[in-house]
Amino acid sequence: MMLKIKEAVDFIKSIYNEKPLVGLILGSGLGSFVHEIKIEKEIPYGDIPHFPVSTVEGHSGRLVFGELGGKKVVAMAGRFHVYEGYTADQVVFPVRVLKFLGIDTLLVSNAAGGVNPAFKVGDLMIITDHISQLAPNPLIGKNFKELGPRFPDMSEPYKKELIHKVKAIAVQKNIPVQEGVYVAVTGPTFETRAEYKMILALGGDAVGMSTVQEVIAAVHMGLPVFAMSVITDLGIHEEEIKITHEEVLQAARDAEPRFKTLICELIAQL
Ligand code: HPA
Repeated sequence: MMLKIKEAVDFIKSIYNEKPLVGLILGSGLGSFVHEIKIEKEIPYGDIPHFPVSTVEGHSGRLVFGELGGKKVVAMAGRFHVYEGYTADQVVFPVRVLKFLGIDTLLVSNAAGGVNPAFKVGDLMIITDHISQLAPNPLIGKNFKELGPRFPDMSEPYKKELIHKVKAIAVQKNIPVQEGVYVAVTGPTFETRAEYKMILALGGDAVGMSTVQEVIAAVHMGLPVFAMSVITDLGIHEEEIKITHEEVLQAARDAEPRFKTLICELIAQL
């Protein structure tokens, strides 16, 4: 594991040798956020030793290095999911590489289904906590002390300080934001009606197929995290609505300008 991380890091540094301060993971439909970055280098995942290759529509699969808000950043355009057949270890490999490239903050985004009855399609939700009953924990197996402790504390997986900053930015820019608990599932099926109800009953506000494993790996390494969901569909509703991937992508694209404003300003303030 440590050798694989080192080989990936060494390869990247041989192509781009600046230290990024902020890492970003761009969720479904949020990939055009990379246009905010003054791009200095792009590296396709397929070129990087030990990187998995992303297979989903809406995830183009490359690391984008550059400058944003006066800071060096690296964005993952495209991420890896358990439903693609990757192990939890593979899903979090890029996060570990970003940490060893030197980032000191990780910003994560995703598309999620809302189950909180107050949510609407297109809402932005600051993730304040998560429930990961349903996705394999990426820390199962041998613990690598170089990464972090065997039994990491999870009392504050999403840094309160970053949440406060974004809430202040949202007020200042007049952008409505929700807050809530993200429940991770493996997918690739969207939930049944009964499952959406279960997620609400569990204490969830939104449900999705990513993020939690990446956050666990980041917290394991002591990396501060901020995460935000775009609510792209509503799981709990009366009508006979069917959810499609296309709708999810479209709702995320519609929310993207608001997402951009918040995240760009957050990066400027870091
Ligand atoms: N469920 C799970 N994952 C999702 C959903 C959903 O309703 N919407 C977007 N990603």
